[in-house]
Amino acid sequence: MSTFDIENYLKERKSLIDRSLDRYLRESKKHPQTLYRAMHYGVFSGGKRLRPILLLAAGELFGGKHRFLLPFACALELIHTYSIIHDDLPALDNDDLRRGELANHKVFGEGIALLAGDALLTEAFHLMSRPQVMEALKPRLVLEALNEIAHAAGIGGMVGGQAVDLEAEGQEVNIATVEYIHVRKTGALILTAARMGARIGGATPKELSRISRFGEFLGLAFQIADDILDARGQSGGKGGARQARDRERKKATYPSVVGLAASKARVQELLQHCLKEIELFGKDADPLRGIAHYVVERTL
Ligand code: IPE
Ligand code: IPE
Ligand code: MG
Ligand code: MG
Ligand code: MG
Repeated sequence: MSTFDIENYLKERKSLIDRSLDRYLRESKKHPQTLYRAMHYGVFSGGKRLRPILLLAAGELFGGKHRFLLPFACALELIHTYSIIHDDLPALDNDDLRRGELANHKVFGEGIALLAGDALLTEAFHLMSRPQVMEALKPRLVLEALNEIAHAAGIGGMVGGQAVDLEAEGQEVNIATVEYIHVRKTGALILTAARMGARIGGATPKELSRISRFGEFLGLAFQIADDILDARGQSGGKGGARQARDRERKKATYPSVVGLAASKARVQELLQHCLKEIELFGKDADPLRGIAHYVVERTL
């Protein structure tokens, strides 16, 4: 890779996203206070902002402007935040900690955590369909984006994947089932982040196909990497090590089916596929390249 400074890039982008999220979220402040605090706690507790950063990077590759991209980038982070608040609930993964801190339901109780997730999901669509967005972009593009993001978040994507993930606990599964789960529960939002950036940025259909394949490979690689970190007890975020929770809960993971070494090899292979898809974009795709390397190199 060239001399592109991915660490600095991610840091700068994270602070840009954080400022926008703060601005958007502040509009909810006048509403029920405990719910607002639970939403705020979920959004501002150390997330990497990978999905919004990816959306901006894919958008900018085709000349997209921040003011058009940011509402969609932030909306995806709200949807992601909802998904992990619910993921940690006792009814799903029953995790007390998230990124080394207390999980949302451990601070606010299950009822408010559930509702904070509901509100974040709904606010995401509120944000993407606000009048300013409709005025700045072609209404048809906005509607298509809403349609695709709703699909990626719902039964055909994240929620569907979470359901199969839950039902697969304690079952004998093969690698095809693990990939089915991963592509949906995690891959779908990552794919749509890349695609929505490219579409809003103005990619041609051919360019969009490349970005879509890049996003598919990256989404799968990301969840395998997450599984590897969990298996090694390294998924605790800034708070440090965490128990290997997936093994305890008998989750369908990549390492549980093929082992750690083969999982790492698969992630490396997916990285190569990602890089190949964006090769022809040259230096302009350095941010996307950097993001793909970052996802994979966390597992080294
Ligand atoms: C964690 O995602 C949940 C998965 C889909 C694997 P991230 O690792 O992107 O979570 P944060 O927001 O950066 O903590
Ligand atoms: C979560 O997958 C996927 C979501 C849709 C939230 P995991 O259950 O593996 O995520 P972590 O390890 O709790 O972050
Ligand atoms: Mg889970
Ligand atoms: Mg979990
Ligand atoms: Mg995990």
